[in-house]
This record gives sequence, C-alpha cells and structure tokens, in this order.
Amino acid sequence: MARILLGVTGGIAAYKSLEFVRLADSAGHSLRVIQTPTSQRFVGAASFEALTGAPVLAGEFEEDPARGTFPGQPAPAHRPLHHLQLVANADLYVIAPASANTIAKLAHGGADNLLTTAALAAKCPLLVAPAMNNHMYEHAATQANLALLRERGVAVVGPDSGRLASRGEHGAGRMAEPAEILAACERLLAQQASGDQVPMRGLRVLVTAGGTREPIDAVRFVGNRSSGRMGVALAAAAQARGAEVTLVAANLAVDAPDGVTVRRVGSAAELGEACRREFPHCDVLVMAAAVADFTPATAAPGKLKKAGRDGLMIELVPAPDVLGGLAAERSAGQTLVGFAAEHGPGMLAYAREKLERKGLDLVVANDVSDPAVGFDSESNEVVVLTRTGEVHVGRAPKTEIADAILDAVMRARGGTEARVEDDAQSAPRQRLRALPTRL
Ligand code: CTP
Repeated sequence: MARILLGVTGGIAAYKSLEFVRLADSAGHSLRVIQTPTSQRFVGAASFEALTGAPVLAGEFEEDPARGTFPGQPAPAHRPLHHLQLVANADLYVIAPASANTIAKLAHGGADNLLTTAALAAKCPLLVAPAMNNHMYEHAATQANLALLRERGVAVVGPDSGRLASRGEHGAGRMAEPAEILAACERLLAQQASGDQVPMRGLRVLVTAGGTREPIDAVRFVGNRSSGRMGVALAAAAQARGAEVTLVAANLAVDAPDGVTVRRVGSAAELGEACRREFPHCDVLVMAAAVADFTPATAAPGKLKKAGRDGLMIELVPAPDVLGGLAAERSAGQTLVGFAAEHGPGMLAYAREKLERKGLDLVVANDVSDPAVGFDSESNEVVVLTRTGEVHVGRAPKTEIADAILDAVMRARGGTEARVEDDAQSAPRQRLRALPTRL
C-alpha cells in the first residue's frame, strides 16, 4: 500500500477530497494532507486530521509534529524541512482539487506556499484533479498550463462536465469523482511498481474516433450517433502512457486531447485515405470510429430540391472496409484493434467472427442494445476479445475502459514476436504479409 500526499487547494470541491481520503484510507493507503490557506475556508484541517490520523500542514513555517512522516512510519530524530521530507516520503502527490491558480503556478514553477513548494520538490509522480468554473477551465491560459503539465508527465484526471458550484452554471470544470481519482492513483502506482511509468513510450499509436458522414448532397449526409468519446479517451490514455499518438477524427462531438496529432476527416472515404497514409508508420492501430458500411452511390453536387418530387430514393453501395483493408497490408509487429458494436445476445460470437474475418489481434465488443453505455454516453461496458481469450470490463467511465483496452493491447504485444528492426523514425514498418501477430 502506498503513501499518498494530498494537496488541497481553495475551491468548493475541497469537500469531495474528504471522501477521497476516506476511500484511499479504506483501500489501505496512508495519507498526509497539505492545504492551502484558502482551502481552509472551505474545509477545515480538523476533518482531514480526523480521517488521516495525521497533522495537516498549511504554512511553510509551521512545525510538523510528525516530522515529515506518514502514519505508520518511524519519525526521524532530527527535525527535517517538512516540505522536502513529506514529498521524499510520498509515493504519489495528488492535488485535488487543483484550482486554476495552482495549475498555473505548477506549470510555471511557482512556489509561494507549502503545497506548491512541495510540488516543486517532488520526485514522485504528480496527479492533478482540476476543479473550477467552466469559463476558467476553458480559458486558453488554463488549457495551455494543463498541456504543459501533461507534457512534463504530470497525470491529469478530469474534470467532469455537469452542474457546477455556482447556481445555474453547467459545463466542464467539476472535479472528477473521488473514486475516479483513486482509480487514477492506483494506475499510476501500479505503473510505478512495474518500474515503467510510460509503458507505451516509443510506440506510435493510430486511433480513429467519431462517426463518418456520407454525403447525399452538398448539405445532407447519412451518419451515425458516435460522439468519438471512446476513441478520444483511447488517444488520451495512449498519450499519457508515453505513446506518440495520431488521431483520425471524424466529426467529433468532443475535443481532441491536447498534444496528439489530429487529422480531421468527414466521410468513410476520407477516413480510409488518412488511415492508409498513417498506418504504415504505426505500431498499434485502434479503430474506434463508427465507419459507414454503406455510402450513397452518388452525391448530388448542389442541394437537392424537393419541388417536383413525390419521394426520394437514395441508392447506397458498400463502403470499403477500411480496417479489413489495412489488416491485409499489416507489417510484423503491428497490433490491430477493432471495435464491434453488436446488438443483444450473440455479441461475443459476432465479435469473435469479426476478429477472425478481419484478421485482427483484439476486438472490443459492446452491446449497443443497452442505452446506458456505448454510443454518445460517458460510460461503457465492454468485452475485449483476443485470439486466446477475453477480458470483461464492467461498466466504467470511458477513460477507465480506455486504460483497460490499452492494458490488453500491451499484454498482447508482450506475446508478439520480436519487432522488425527497421525503425528509422518515420520509415514504414517492414511489410510482412504473414499471419497476424501471435498473442
Ligand atoms: N470498419 C471499417 N470500415 C468500415 C466499417 C467498419 O474499418 N467501412 C471498422 C470499424 O471501425 C470497427 C470494425 O470495422 O473497428 C467493425 O465494424 P462493424 O461495422 O461492426 O463491422 P462489420 O464487419 O461491418 O459488421 P456488421 O455487419 O456488424 O456491421
């Protein structure tokens, strides 16, 4: 079990940090808390002290009765500088809630209170859970600060969208739920324990996301309800693991993650073209986009007029299977992941048939007959099928599902044959029209 240092900044979400402490403590972790003076106007130190069983610190010149130790650790004979000792003893430093002001200070190396001083001195992984008003979160300065932190390897969890603290305000800025923050902590700790904090470093990952639109005329299209959330979560998760990510984005209803290369496309044909260009350079392809199976035989050049028509027949012809086409051209060492949105019983059998027919390494199957998951929803529940078995991932936010899928990808790659060593950075991988990689 780990020693988690929790930094609490000033914001209404500070009350949720008490729940985080309770959950982390129940999970067996030991905790210390640093508060900013402003955060103590929202939640008092006594509450954190009662839950952690350890003193809370807020000022640089305060005496730490525990001498920088965590519950259960023997105290040193001397009196160490507690901002240094606390982070030296911590396995993980979590700042939740992280206000816009603290995020700005973290990004630019500010150290004007105990919380930020400790962050600057921290050698352990840092996780921040932003919480603020939606306009503050969306401000270019905050976005740039978060991007800078991510680039430096700081993990960011949330924020969620929904009702905000000020009455009537809705949007992105709500702190991630305590259980979600704890899950993010557990992932970081697990990565740390495996001695590999960026397990996908050096890998080039191509992700497709969203839903294609097949033009009927200049303004109308045949489309689908995919929002792109699952693909975007996968791109963000792969990037967080150190991969170099390219996202082929088809009509996303959500923002693409910062720091990934984005290729915007509209139709299945455009998506196919972008994928064919990028595929030879990737190690992992995750085909999360909902790509049209059929497309209008012709698209009218202007806008179709209704005058003089009793009805309108649109002839649909099959759209090329992008994933199947790429799989036929795969190189040794490439891992291909397809998605199977299936309806009701028989899901697994259909998904396995898809894995075989398209020559894939993994297929992520979900049951779209359940309205609570899948298309356009925040959560999902999937089964990841591999050539040798399957992993059931229970209902969870798409960010967590993304991590479970990438874990499965990495397990699958762990069993692949040695990669072909032709790695001039952007050179296409050596082509080997052999069987799919062994899993
Ligand atoms: N896909 C693709 N090109 C298409 C259609 C789908 O690359 N024209 C990809 C999807 O991105 C997904 C996988 O293939 O990863 C499975 O898509 P799906 O439409 O479910 O598979 P189909 O083989 O078309 O089967 P179904 O009859 O169930 O639609």
